Amino acid sequence: MITAPVSTTPTRTTLYQRSVAHYWDSEHNAVNVALGEIDGLHHHHYGIGEADLTVLDAPEAVREARINTELHRLEQAQADLLADHLGPVTADDWLFDAGCGHGAGSLVAHSRFGCHVDGVTLSPVQQQAATHYAERLGAGEQVTFHTADMLSTGLRTGAYTASWNNESDMYVDLDDLFAEHARLLKRGGRYVAITGVINDLHGMASRSVSRINWHYECDVHKRGAFFKALARHRLAVTTVIDLTHAALPYWRLRERSSHLATGIEADFLAAYQEGSFQYMLIAADRI
Ligand SMILES: C[S@@+](CC[C@H](N)C(=O)[O-])C[C@H]1O[C@@H](n2cnc3c(N)ncnc32)[C@H](O)[C@@H]1O
Repeated sequence: MITAPVSTTPTRTTLYQRSVAHYWDSEHNAVNVALGEIDGLHHHHYGIGEADLTVLDAPEAVREARINTELHRLEQAQADLLADHLGPVTADDWLFDAGCGHGAGSLVAHSRFGCHVDGVTLSPVQQQAATHYAERLGAGEQVTFHTADMLSTGLRTGAYTASWNNESDMYVDLDDLFAEHARLLKRGGRYVAITGVINDLHGMASRSVSRINWHYECDVHKRGAFFKALARHRLAVTTVIDLTHAALPYWRLRERSSHLATGIEADFLAAYQEGSFQYMLIAADRI
């Protein structure tokens, strides 16, 4: 098996990145922990698709479990949609998961394609947990997680058939990010992002978007800036899907799930409904 060399210490860690690493090292929200325990896939992103709101009326004894299962199903749908857009991938291919969290996206891709995956996160705690989850699911040989900066990974140039950011681009400069994806991807490789972006038509960050930035210690990008930065780095857009409408049921259910809500639900709903914020899937070919 070819192993991908990676520097274990981020080479350009800023104070901001250390703070982000600390955030994710210490993050143990039930919405991530309890849902991950359902099947070993610990998604750290939101969900899409129609929700079955009848789970809210389930008998007390099973209500929390039913809500967890329903939200997890919506998160899984998002991970599946991302995998749908990675293009043709074979078991011999390598994929790169930028800002991998607890590695669920890497594990979803591996289970679908049988491929190799390298995931990077700034958080050593996440990296260790993700490695444990991969081993538990029998994927530890082919799916490897690293504590590294996605802007300078040390991974092999031109070795990757596809790469992605699932809700992790808002922690970094887009030019630095896409330069690294463009370096890692083969010519003809596919880049996919699922992300929240400011609607340029609205203008600057709205109050709700500013609260989302504050809550997660991040800085969401404008939609237009995202496309311009892709083009500057030989990433030619092939697919754009506006998922804003499809994202609402997840937030509505989560807002009414007192054991899972983190307090940011109303801001996501307001931002999407007022039109200041959009949830997007964007795919591009490395040309
Ligand atoms: C919202 S979580 C998304 C996790 C994962 N993509 C998922 O969908 O489950 C954001 C992730 O981005 C990672 N991250 C933020 N900045 C990073 C950087 N510069 N390099 C590597 N990972 C980074 C965090 O450590 C965290 O794992």
